[in-house]
Amino acid sequence: EQTAGKQKPYMYTQGQAVLNRSFFPCFDTPSVKFTYSATVQVPEGFTAVMSATSWEKQKDNTFVFKMSQPIPSYLIALAVGDIVSADVGPRSRVWAEPCLIEAAKKEYDGVIEEFLAVGERLFGPYVWGRYDILFMPPSFPFGGMENPCLTFVTPCLLAGDRSLADVIIHEISHSWFGNLVTNATWGEFWLNEGFTMYAQRRISTEVYGLAYTCLEAATGRALLRQHMDNTGEDHPLNKLRVVIEQDGQMIPEGFPFFLGVNPDDTYNETPYEKGYCFVSYLAHLVGDQSKFDAFLQAYVNRFKFQSITADDTLGFFLEYFPELKEKGVDSIPGFEFDRWLNTPGWPPYLPDLSPGEQLMKPADELAELWAADSLNMEAIEAVDITAWRTYQLVYFLDKVLQKSPLPEGNVEMLSKMYPKISKARNAELRLRWCQIVLKNNLDAEYSKVKDFLHSQGKQKYTLPLYRAMWGGSESARALAMETFSATAPQLHVNVQNYVKKILGLE
Ligand code: BES
Ligand code: ZN
Repeated sequence: EQTAGKQKPYMYTQGQAVLNRSFFPCFDTPSVKFTYSATVQVPEGFTAVMSATSWEKQKDNTFVFKMSQPIPSYLIALAVGDIVSADVGPRSRVWAEPCLIEAAKKEYDGVIEEFLAVGERLFGPYVWGRYDILFMPPSFPFGGMENPCLTFVTPCLLAGDRSLADVIIHEISHSWFGNLVTNATWGEFWLNEGFTMYAQRRISTEVYGLAYTCLEAATGRALLRQHMDNTGEDHPLNKLRVVIEQDGQMIPEGFPFFLGVNPDDTYNETPYEKGYCFVSYLAHLVGDQSKFDAFLQAYVNRFKFQSITADDTLGFFLEYFPELKEKGVDSIPGFEFDRWLNTPGWPPYLPDLSPGEQLMKPADELAELWAADSLNMEAIEAVDITAWRTYQLVYFLDKVLQKSPLPEGNVEMLSKMYPKISKARNAELRLRWCQIVLKNNLDAEYSKVKDFLHSQGKQKYTLPLYRAMWGGSESARALAMETFSATAPQLHVNVQNYVKKILGLE
């Protein structure tokens, strides 16, 4: 029932952050790395795939896997299903259920190699051999998971127009930041995600240009703003170095019950987007992009196959740039490295996103028009959004959401005017449209929220919508309860538990 084909069973594992201890015995901490091999026998008609550098199919449907590079426990992953593959590049193929394989191939044929090649030019050799992509069942809780050699992704990426390729570029970037140089503890998660966001946007700048990349980064900044507004800037999770009381330990029987804090419960936008700002700040201190790129390459080379803390990173930065160390850049008032790491709140430095202005300004102005008490239809009709890119629409919708609830009648009008938005199939657009529908109590379009939540189970889409429903009207709350009781069995157990918490069911 969770698959796209709805016929055959499917199984997958998700290791990050501390779930692989329920899969095999291990030192389930990112500070320990090891190689592995696995022998997996599956029933007739099924294929097994793993995050491994080599694999071989033997007789009796037995697959033998080997990972020849040392990796932390959270990067071991297995999936078994009715899956097939298609080549999309010299070292890349896509894997998917048969009914999705054509769409999967079409989405990424011929583009993956360029992402990899740019990554190698910027950050050094790609050491993992192959880079393949597995399209997961719609219930997969993440956009992507950087399992080495084989990224797992949500089928929501199959937008038909490559508009969500930033997720693939992100997971590819983990090949250097995270998978080679790894955070030693989950309290230093920003070392994985902040550096990866920076690397992703460097690759994106080379491939798509600075304007587009700044637009994408602006939507990321909006997510950080939303997150800090929800939690309050001073929340202890809004610092880069998080205190996670005693690494989580699972009680036997596989119950998701932890002593101390479960690192998954600390997941939020801060390590991603504040982390991105800090790495951008380091680049700003250096002042020369090619020098900073060279530093990143040296950093990967220095710490590859190791697990490190921010002290190692920043120590190496100051060692690599002795003139900056001499200037005392680690203690400039207001921008102290210690403050970046240990003080919660909005980033003290934001990279300049004005090169994206040409793409953002029309969206800003249009959102302004739609927020007016009486709509200036002439001005609105003069703006043609048919040629806008997905991220321009996303940016526009985030602005509309910020200004919501809009004056009576405006959202209905907007919905009629832009079927490209209100009837969108693209998941990033559907999420925003659903958020707008809920914030404006647009009962007439509640079915869209329901349909979207039935169609996929990504955590970053699911939780904000349940929060919005639960914080909304009586009818929105009823919609939440009805939708959850129908879809709970399809959701990843972590996501199920987070929704239960939102709905006060635990
Ligand atoms: N490694 C993360 C996913 C993850 C984080 C799984 C923590 C479990 C615990 C992955 O690289 C990621 O960040 N995915 C994002 C992609 C986005 C930032 C482009 C996602 O799933 O949304
Ligand atoms: Zn990531």
